[in-house]
Amino acid sequence: MEIIREAGQMQRWAETARLAGEKIACVPTMGYLHEGHLSLMREGRRRASRLVVSVFVNPTQFGPSEDLNSYPRDFDRDCALMEAIPVDTVFAPQPADLYPPGFQTWVEAAEITRGLCGAYRPGHFRAVATVVAKLFNIIKPHVALFGEKDYQQLRTIEQMVRDLNFDVEIVAMPIVREADGLAMSSRNAYLSPEQRASALAISRALRAAGQKLAQGVRRAQELREAARVVLDAAGELNVQYLEVVDAQTLEPIGLIEAPVLVAIAAWAGRTRLIDNCVLVPPPAPTP
Ligand code: PAF
Repeated sequence: MEIIREAGQMQRWAETARLAGEKIACVPTMGYLHEGHLSLMREGRRRASRLVVSVFVNPTQFGPSEDLNSYPRDFDRDCALMEAIPVDTVFAPQPADLYPPGFQTWVEAAEITRGLCGAYRPGHFRAVATVVAKLFNIIKPHVALFGEKDYQQLRTIEQMVRDLNFDVEIVAMPIVREADGLAMSSRNAYLSPEQRASALAISRALRAAGQKLAQGVRRAQELREAARVVLDAAGELNVQYLEVVDAQTLEPIGLIEAPVLVAIAAWAGRTRLIDNCVLVPPPAPTP
């Protein structure tokens, strides 16, 4: 497995691979890999002849009071996991290489980033879209894989690819969960055993919303209420938002007639967790 640290060298690698007729899959990550990342890599491996994984803790997507300095990092462990996939090439640049002095160009998808996490993390999705656009220009992938756990991020990237005509196929991959339902995240490493136990209420709340829809309820407010009861019963959880939105536009909805996203962000102590599920209403019976 080759490790490339410099953007120019990565671009030359990608150009050579393309000229040789290789198909490049790319999995962008911030490292501290878990089974969720590995599932993206396995699918990338399946879809292409060359698999590139970027490992870059992107400083611009962290707010001033967020966890950039303490974000978990273990490059040696990450490399061992990637070798086992196997990944062909790891792109692990330094911040100064991607953001040289004078950097001033940003990519912003407007409406899709307004609500949900975007409302609480100003500038976050602009920074994510910008770094992913840069990674696409550097790694030149034919296909790139993203997890549905970061659903708003996924939709933002899909929107960017469409609006800016990036020639990259975006593949959405399902959330990978621990056996007890907790969605896998690098930030789970921060949780104390008590906080982890409380955090399980998030996936339980999503299931409660799903059950309401399955029972025939179509008012989004009722799904929200069912989820809220579960979250409120959990000890150490501080809910930031609990929303039911259109799964495509991410706009709030009243009546569920098309697929919806139920999305939750909550603090367990000082750790911010997000989770979601897409619910599809069964078609209305024909008269
Ligand atoms: O999901 C992540 O790990 C990051 O937001 C990404 C897509 C690698 C961009 O920094």
